[in-house]
Amino acid sequence: MNSPTSITTSELRQRWLDFWQAKQHAIIPSASVLPDNDPTALFINSGMHPLVPYLMGQPHPAGQRLANAQKCIRTIDIDEVGDATHLTCFEMLGNWSLGDFGPLEMIDFAFAFLTEELGLPLEKLAFSVFAGDVSVERDTAAAAQWASHGVAEARIAYLGVADNWWAKGDVGPCGPDTEIFYWTGAGPAPASFQQTHDDPHWVEIWNCVFMTFDRQADGSLQPLTQPNIDTGMGLERTVAVLNGQQSIYQTDGFTPILQHLTGLAQRSDLLDDVTADTADHHSLRVIADHLRSSCVLIADGVTPSNVDQGYILRRLVRRAIRHGRKLGIPTSFVGSIVPVVVGLLGGAYPELVAQAEHITRTLTTEEAQFAQALVKGEKEFHRLVGEIAGTEVSGGQAFYLYETYGFPLEITTELAAESQLTVDEQGFAEAFAAHQARSRAGSEAKFAGGLADDDPRTLQLHTATHLLHAALRKYLGEHVQQKGSNITPERLRFDFSHPEKLTPEQKQAVEQYVNDAIAADQPITHREMPTDEAFAAGALGFFGHKYGERVTVYDMGEWSVEICGGPHAASTGELGKFRIAKEKSSSKGVRRIRGVLE
Ligand code: ALA
Repeated sequence: MNSPTSITTSELRQRWLDFWQAKQHAIIPSASVLPDNDPTALFINSGMHPLVPYLMGQPHPAGQRLANAQKCIRTIDIDEVGDATHLTCFEMLGNWSLGDFGPLEMIDFAFAFLTEELGLPLEKLAFSVFAGDVSVERDTAAAAQWASHGVAEARIAYLGVADNWWAKGDVGPCGPDTEIFYWTGAGPAPASFQQTHDDPHWVEIWNCVFMTFDRQADGSLQPLTQPNIDTGMGLERTVAVLNGQQSIYQTDGFTPILQHLTGLAQRSDLLDDVTADTADHHSLRVIADHLRSSCVLIADGVTPSNVDQGYILRRLVRRAIRHGRKLGIPTSFVGSIVPVVVGLLGGAYPELVAQAEHITRTLTTEEAQFAQALVKGEKEFHRLVGEIAGTEVSGGQAFYLYETYGFPLEITTELAAESQLTVDEQGFAEAFAAHQARSRAGSEAKFAGGLADDDPRTLQLHTATHLLHAALRKYLGEHVQQKGSNITPERLRFDFSHPEKLTPEQKQAVEQYVNDAIAADQPITHREMPTDEAFAAGALGFFGHKYGERVTVYDMGEWSVEICGGPHAASTGELGKFRIAKEKSSSKGVRRIRGVLE
């Protein structure tokens, strides 16, 4: 029983789901990685995250016992990715009791899953329970329950808040937990877990939270309306551990990706030891992780941009592209990963299959956009390096590379490290903040003229309104005139003269035009000029509006030129994806469109 188990990623996932189904759990699909109604988070980062309302007491339509495999994204450690353990996207296997069974029954289930279902040897397992603190008791009941199954007392450790208390955030659902560890060392596992729990050969594979409290803003603990169980097992890591592998990159969930990439680079030698600590192996792992995550993000509707989730995606793709160059992978490769990732994850997450073409297109477009900037930017970087007296790239220089060549900070940092330089990251952050403050100040001055606030979404929707206006004139005709516009951070509303309902083809063409403009990532510039010159140059404006002698014209290249007080996004690429949510009559001869950015 001491030899490692042999289990594939999809086997572990399936056995998990089958086990819980047999225990009367409803198997629910993975939620999107984009949180619904949680403004505090960019991404779903645990299995329980999409279930918060139900843990707080709202009845779940599928019942009180749930289980699933949930796609999760954690990008805090983006520049640590490439080592053996960090992933930006991982799957969490989870099961929940929403006010149904309690901790002791959960421990019985967990013991059965580990020892009967997976057949893990008890001598390789250890368990931690909550040691108690001022407000919550020492969990002797959980310890006794593990012991009742024959777990040696020495393999049950009592640990404090740092180890055995789980909370989603500073406020909200939380509680004590019990964690399960697997011994990955070469020899037999040490007898006492209490003394050795810090040994990195003990790897945590499962966390079972007894989620009973709701932490208030003042720090106090209120009991939840119902006590819950919330458990999570990191799929990729557990597969590696159970198979006796050192790294997730050795598992079957990554092998096909690594094979594909080393094939492109003509570097099959890198497969001999994918955990090796060389720059090339590091690049290989970064590309594998980042492109796999990018596929998952795009399938859930994220598009590369300069804000929020879109910016994280952009950073992942651009960093992967740069490491691709370093490995000698020829240009235009990122799209080719899609069938490989879809082959691995599409069975569990059908949205990847449905969106495969869209993912390929998005990756390919982003690569085409960045490829040229990368070559020029690297040249510029090396020119700048020549000017540096000390050993540090200044914040201003890093910001210049960001602004001009689209280099996210971590690309500049990596380039710097390759030349034995550091980057003034604080200075970069300050330059970035100053830039934002400048555009905000600009916005405030100009907002007097029109828009109600300076939410970046409002700006982007304002830009989308210009593109929409241009698209409507292109596809419906020159009779289209703006009759009104109203923008909130959620949507745009645009009224225009047109006698009849838009056909589905017209709607689609208009949306496509706006989305093409977004994909082109057209920088937006503006300048002041004499009004008659603006009209002569073909700028759109309000029909019949009395303009002064001089006007400001917002220029989006071939996509739109329009007289306007601003402000706008810096570039069309920021916008995300445009959709016409509604098209209807507003008054006689005037149609109204509600549009959203997704
Ligand atoms: N919510 C718990 C975790 O993420 C299970 O570890």
